Amino acid sequence: MTATPAKPSMAQLQEREHDVGHDYAKGSPHIRHSSVRERVISGVHDLVGDVIDRNGACRVLELGAGHGTFTDHLVAAGAEVEVTEMSAPSVEVIRHRFRHNPKVTVVHDRGGEAALGGGPIGAAVCISVLHHIPDYLETVKRLVERIVPGGAFLSVQDPLWYPRRSRISMGLDRNAYLLWRLGQGELRRGLATRLRRLRGVYDETNEADMVEYHVVREGVDEQALYALLAPEFEWVELQRYWSTQSGLLQSVGERLGPPTTFGIVARNRR
Ligand SMILES: C[S@@+](CC[C@H](N)C(=O)[O-])C[C@H]1O[C@@H](n2cnc3c(N)ncnc32)[C@H](O)[C@@H]1O
Repeated sequence: MTATPAKPSMAQLQEREHDVGHDYAKGSPHIRHSSVRERVISGVHDLVGDVIDRNGACRVLELGAGHGTFTDHLVAAGAEVEVTEMSAPSVEVIRHRFRHNPKVTVVHDRGGEAALGGGPIGAAVCISVLHHIPDYLETVKRLVERIVPGGAFLSVQDPLWYPRRSRISMGLDRNAYLLWRLGQGELRRGLATRLRRLRGVYDETNEADMVEYHVVREGVDEQALYALLAPEFEWVELQRYWSTQSGLLQSVGERLGPPTTFGIVARNRR
């Protein structure tokens, strides 16, 4: 009898996908495309500025910071930042990058639990990370419990909840992704992923299904997040926009395409 291979943990899958030398920019529209990147950067600056205006200082918890692309901007906006990251190789990179900066502490959160406990914070920031977390609603609930009055929450760059999207929206999104994959010379991986999606199969041992942007589960339920945040904050805004990997399709989609992706910002914690 052949033994069934053990299901890898999320940390192992994250480490396979975000290994040593991983290029976070390559498959990340919010790093590659200036329009999406500017959306994230201005969101980060507005958020930190708002908390500092209200509370005089801002300690941010940045969940899943990768290589710290946006940690730079949090610090530039005036925050002290506690970064958590699940992938050991990424932790090494980010620790090295900020080794002389006392405003940044880096926690290797292998089980994804460290961020949920701990002391009070001025803001929680999740950039392209909630779609990696199986129970993202519970995670956000626990993060919000840590946010002080006047504090804020920001999440950005998650796929809109698939079941509420039209067939046109899903079709354009998936074909844009496949075209980009083909352009990368990754025909086999692109087609295999597409076939699994058509069959409604999510392979829990495959990092492409569990980790990769835009194909994980059914997207992220933006309305459930809104409902969770609205009672806790004075002001909550949902922002829907088009985002895809290919530069050309990004410009076309911004003008003509239906939204695929969202950010949510909540300010002035009650
Ligand atoms: C798509 S990357 C985004 C990285 C970074 N925020 C950026 O935008 O460049 C998602 C990152 O979140 C990390 N991650 C996933 N789940 C996590 C969790 N529960 N706690 C901490 N890090 C997590 C992954 O290891 C990966 O580095």
